[in-house]
Amino acid sequence: MSHLDDLFEFLRFPSVSTLPERKGDVAKCAEWLAGRLTGIGLKAEIHATAGHPIVVARNVHVPGRRTVMIYGHYDVQPVDPVNEWTSPPFEPVVRDGVVFARGSTDNKGQILAHILGVGRTLREKGDVPVNLIFLIEGEEEIGSEHLEAFLVAKRDALKCDIIAISDTGMIARDTPTFTYGLRGVAAMEVRAHGPAADLHSGIYGGTVANPATAIARLIATLHHADGRVAVGGFYDGVKALQEWEREAWGRLPYGDAEIRAVTGVTELFGEAGYSGIERTWARPTVEVNGIGGGFQGVGSKTVIPREAFAKLTFRLVPDQRPAEVLAKVRAHLAANCPPGIRLEITDGHSGEPYSTEPHSAFGKAAQRALERAFPGEPLALIREGGSIPIVNTFKKVLGVETLLLGLALPDCRAHAPDENFPVENFEAGMRLNAALLEELAK
Ligand code: BES
Ligand code: ZN
Repeated sequence: MSHLDDLFEFLRFPSVSTLPERKGDVAKCAEWLAGRLTGIGLKAEIHATAGHPIVVARNVHVPGRRTVMIYGHYDVQPVDPVNEWTSPPFEPVVRDGVVFARGSTDNKGQILAHILGVGRTLREKGDVPVNLIFLIEGEEEIGSEHLEAFLVAKRDALKCDIIAISDTGMIARDTPTFTYGLRGVAAMEVRAHGPAADLHSGIYGGTVANPATAIARLIATLHHADGRVAVGGFYDGVKALQEWEREAWGRLPYGDAEIRAVTGVTELFGEAGYSGIERTWARPTVEVNGIGGGFQGVGSKTVIPREAFAKLTFRLVPDQRPAEVLAKVRAHLAANCPPGIRLEITDGHSGEPYSTEPHSAFGKAAQRALERAFPGEPLALIREGGSIPIVNTFKKVLGVETLLLGLALPDCRAHAPDENFPVENFEAGMRLNAALLEELAK
């Protein structure tokens, strides 16, 4: 079976972790993955959790060798809006050398490249130069809720020297990219409750508060007009962007023009005083991910909805703490709640921001491996705007740093319709794995 057949099998599982009705599919995907890890000669286990299973696999460990953990996730985000996909999200296809499917980039293609890279080295050389632990979870896209307890419970079995993850981006095709920081994330849902039931907007319009209007007003209080977050104390603890970062990022062949092109906007918008990459990589934000309430069907309906909601997430940077930020936003919302409305605020998942020293010995080894996988182009040192919630927990619970060696391209459409991953990057990922294990063994 070819490596692409393997990838296609993996991508056909609709392992959407957030949807209760996909629980069985997520479990089947974990079983497939464990089978594949066993197939390349590793010993694999599936650990049930109160949520989705965690898959762990290892080779035979040899005393004296470095132990490398490779982390990834087999769960994916929902496919909505599904009718905006060119081809169905769980029926992978290759068009012009690019695989299209939900999870192709985030993260099935990238983690499978590591697995198949190890498989190939084992076939060709009979051994890999390190003690390996694959830790692949099914809840990354919902905040890795059950992974921390697992790390605590299995701390000894998961002891390692370094962790590697390919679940971040490259700034451009063929540009080896090493990521030394991730934003954290915290989620919150706000529901505005008004009348006891939906009301006729003619009979009652003008005399009771409308929850949809209340949600809109509340959302509007979260930012100043120039893009700065208006929540009191939101920027407390935020580490300033380093001068060397500003300079180095300014020289990257990726900036405002590329962001405009890939996003299709005519003008960037965000906190004043920062470039696009500075804002996404080093500044915290408040985002509205969803808003709803009232009549959503075709045509019109004269109703005052009983309730309305907004789904919010906050992207955090060192040294902000998710719990503190959630508390500040909660206080801000309560203080700005319009009269006649009762707010119900529920905190969701969260993960801390992460940063590591890019020039550590392991950091340099990872960079050499990236250069070997993508020869010829200067390496980019970046931070990322996305979050991998468990990374800072690895540091806290296992005491181990994480190397982020991502293969996602700026136009990969992760979390969106037409998510894609070039076959070329999948193959580079297998080469990257072989080079990485060699460099980390040194
Ligand atoms: N692979 C991403 C994280 C990522 C994306 C890092 C782009 C760097 C650049 C990961 O799968 C992801 O999407 N994480 C979620 C976590 C959240 C749902 C808790 C995210 O960042 O939204
Ligand atoms: Zn993701």
